[in-house]
Amino acid sequence: MWDSLWLGASVATMQGDAPFGALPDAALAVLDGRIAWLGPEAELPPGSVAGKVHRVDGWITPGLIDCHTHLVYGGTRAGEWERRLQGVSYEQIAREGGGIRSTVAATRLADEDTLFATAKTRLTTLMAEGVVAVEIKSGYGLDPATEARCLRVARRLGAQTPIHVVTSFLGAHAVPPEFEGRPDAAMEAVIAMLPELAAAGLIDAVDAFCETIAFDAAQVRRLLSQARALGLPVKLHADQLSDGGGGALAAEFGALSADHLEYLNADGAAAMARAGTVAVLLPGATYFLRETRMPPVALLRAAGVRMAVATDCNPGTSPCTSLLLMLNMACTLFRLTPEEALAGVTREAARALGLEAEYGVLAVGRRADFVVWDVSSPAELCYQFGARPVTAVIRRGVEAASA
Ligand code: NIG
Ligand code: FE
Repeated sequence: MWDSLWLGASVATMQGDAPFGALPDAALAVLDGRIAWLGPEAELPPGSVAGKVHRVDGWITPGLIDCHTHLVYGGTRAGEWERRLQGVSYEQIAREGGGIRSTVAATRLADEDTLFATAKTRLTTLMAEGVVAVEIKSGYGLDPATEARCLRVARRLGAQTPIHVVTSFLGAHAVPPEFEGRPDAAMEAVIAMLPELAAAGLIDAVDAFCETIAFDAAQVRRLLSQARALGLPVKLHADQLSDGGGGALAAEFGALSADHLEYLNADGAAAMARAGTVAVLLPGATYFLRETRMPPVALLRAAGVRMAVATDCNPGTSPCTSLLLMLNMACTLFRLTPEEALAGVTREAARALGLEAEYGVLAVGRRADFVVWDVSSPAELCYQFGARPVTAVIRRGVEAASA
């Protein structure tokens, strides 16, 4: 006997040849937190029984995955944003010692429970939209104690909510004030943090900000080599504000993903396609920085690079806790098709986190993490913005008390 059976909806499986992998008038059965049966309702085996039968309308999709966030941090950057509205640039604020460094100062002052409480509020907002897995980066501590504190908070969020949390160590997010003018030494300090944090089980992947206002390619290369030596997967903030060859560098290390990519060049795209490195597109940051340069979606498509979409939730460039809004912006700003955008927060986001064996598509044997939506087509999830047409969220086979 199955634990539950969902009838009446169409299912966007996100695999196979049909648009959205659509299975109209489907039945989906859950047993022990996994999908036990999925197919047309008309083909359900006779005599099928389930502990609970749900008859719903609309569409079922895989649970959403936010594969790039920095949601553990202290303070706010609303004041900096007001200065940017007056015309001061993001780089200028960073060079004056504000930007990431101002969040680092606030995060160092915040205790673990405060960081947990504020991050949990952000996570709860994401969860209400059907998010089932999330990546959380460190990177606002930049010293061993605070980086460890932020990563512990991320682990606690995973343990105390039904969300699957993947942690990324972003100690190389900025040169901290104590290493002012000494980026090589700052990078050595980051590399020195790796073994202990990894041994404590706090790191699922290693990330870095490869940019003129952070670390150059040679410095990043040293970190990624060390990460690989420890057997840790890597990711990269690449080519966001300038063409620093970040996409190619990520590919050289077989990175799970290279993220941002507004200035990615054709060689970088080709290298990413060969390496299977996912391009994570972050329309919230492009919008909030009022960037006019968009990531080269046509180039990525032509090269065959897989594209994911995420919130980049962070206080400086994307104070955003709506992955549904990112679906709309990925289409409207970046010209992704609705199918590419939805794949970007399900199938491809899973791949960007190395979770593709468990999450991102709906099929027998996969985790029963899915969302029932009150929409008449999957494209409607991208078309609307500001709506939250969630009927039910099911994580590990269990329906959330309030979606
Ligand atoms: O993903 N690009 C670097 N890191 C963040 C911004 C961090 C900040 O400004 O606090 C990003 O956009
Ligand atoms: Fe980011």
